[in-house]
Amino acid sequence: MAGQIPRHFIDELLARTDIVELIDHRVPLKKAGKNYQACCPFHNEKSPSFTVSQDKQFYHCFGCGAHGNAISFLMAYEQLEFVEAIEDLARLHHLEVPREQGKGPQRPQAQADDYSQMQKAASLYQQALSSHQAASTYLTNRGISAATAEKYGIGYAPESWDFLLKQLASTKPQRDQLFELKLTNRNENGREYDFFRDRLMFPIRDKRGRVIGFGGRVLGDGTPKYLNSPETRLFHKGRELYGLYEARQQDERLNRVLIVEGYMDVVGLADKGISFAVACLGTATTPDHMQTLFRLTSTVTCCYDGDRAGRDAAWRALQSALPHLKDGVELNFVFLPDGEDPDSLVKQEGKEAFLHRLEQAQPLGIYLFDHLVKELDVSTDAGKSALWVKANELIKQIPSEFYRDALYGKLQALVGKSVQATSRPVAKSAVSAAATPVPKITPMRRAIALLVQHPVLAQVMPVAPELAQANLPGIQLLLALQEKLLQQPKATTAQLLEHWRDTAEYNILAKLTLWDHQVAEEQLTQEFLDTFRSIEDQYLAQRLEELQRKDTLAQLTQAEKQEFVLLLKAFKSK
Ligand code: UTP
Ligand code: MN
Repeated sequence: MAGQIPRHFIDELLARTDIVELIDHRVPLKKAGKNYQACCPFHNEKSPSFTVSQDKQFYHCFGCGAHGNAISFLMAYEQLEFVEAIEDLARLHHLEVPREQGKGPQRPQAQADDYSQMQKAASLYQQALSSHQAASTYLTNRGISAATAEKYGIGYAPESWDFLLKQLASTKPQRDQLFELKLTNRNENGREYDFFRDRLMFPIRDKRGRVIGFGGRVLGDGTPKYLNSPETRLFHKGRELYGLYEARQQDERLNRVLIVEGYMDVVGLADKGISFAVACLGTATTPDHMQTLFRLTSTVTCCYDGDRAGRDAAWRALQSALPHLKDGVELNFVFLPDGEDPDSLVKQEGKEAFLHRLEQAQPLGIYLFDHLVKELDVSTDAGKSALWVKANELIKQIPSEFYRDALYGKLQALVGKSVQATSRPVAKSAVSAAATPVPKITPMRRAIALLVQHPVLAQVMPVAPELAQANLPGIQLLLALQEKLLQQPKATTAQLLEHWRDTAEYNILAKLTLWDHQVAEEQLTQEFLDTFRSIEDQYLAQRLEELQRKDTLAQLTQAEKQEFVLLLKAFKSK
């Protein structure tokens, strides 16, 4: 059972990783003075304000405030959970992630088991497919080859109330787990039974290939035609895309992605050699979906039926995509003839003809105005002003200046109005892209900032354990940093921050890491010692006051009397 990842291992990973190399691999960096720069991958910008420091092993964007160490970067850029980012880094260095003995946090432990239960269920379904004639015949009749079925892990859930229950749950906790993963259901009497029965099973895999849910199709005409896993702790429909893992397996660089409506469309296209299609899982396309896709590919084509439902789906996809349209990506739309879907079309007309349809896709700019104009009469002023308002609402969400300009140009032409560049609304993401506000700098914060930015200063910092009693906000953090650095003199800024991840102090520590202290390199030690002394003085003044109070009450011990005299002398000589 997996326990917690030991801290020394995380420190070690950070020590072995060079953040410049890690980021450069994903976002090409240019050297600029001591640091490296690029246009920020987390917001849209024209001039680079994303800075990576090799010394600190830390990145920071002055535009949007994004910042962190190598782990934070992987989490943000690859949309990984903490443990996943650690696992990826470990893999990079060919290391096994060790786990502490004893009881770690319950969740990650339960989750590891969850994934293996889901995988076991998928394997059982897959095995069952070959021994159930009707199911494999159905698949053959739909033109799906054994190789494609294998690639997508397609299986069959037999017509049985306890196919999985029998094989995967012999104990109560296991039965609870299957229920929580929605592989089983419970009736009013608490009796459990398999959720999927007599259905062709499509395992839904996450970005890393782990099975997180299923879609099950009836073999005949029953309803519902498709039964999908409900949301569980592993499965979040708004985030996952069916077929994305398989598409990336086929081609990691993934030039383009086609969004289609159904499981069978993804599988049918892949069978004919078009392996870059993905489907949303019984939900509309969400902004999360679009963000994921635009991170992985530059061209997204939405492919829907020409009917009412297809048109609605396309429009929602457009709305979800606008906030993620950065420079260098493209969104376009293909509408299929009524009554056809990608699966049926590619079977009828073949791969080349289908690809030809994709070549004819409507660019965003055409589709957007086509759609708006259809609902309005733009020969009238009322229609023009309505178009103006509606189009504006949409265009202003786009972060790419290029796309905004191009669309405003079209809008002008349509309504015959000229738009001053200055009156154009700025994209939301640009507005919210304010730099991280710098906290008010007190001596304590200055000392913490200098120490976290230049860990080597710990070696000149006096050891003064009595300061722990000082009534000075931040003192505990300063002393904790010192202690950490005495144990680990080579720790980098990034490792220090890692140590404080998920604590109440993390935010202030991160802000102080980013604060530009403007102290010249050769002045650092002096500046730090001066700052430290002023903190010490604050403490001594507090202590003096305390002793004075006690003195008037005649409560001083012998030792305190001596301390009092010394303090008085010290303060008089200042
Ligand atoms: P369609 O009804 O268009 O099915 O649903 P399809 O993909 O063409 O399926 P085949 O070709 O008849 O096998 C499209 C998608 O909508 C969701 C599923 O994700 C399906 O793939 N859907 C449909 C459901 O979730 N439940 C349903 O009952 C029907
Ligand atoms: Mn279909």
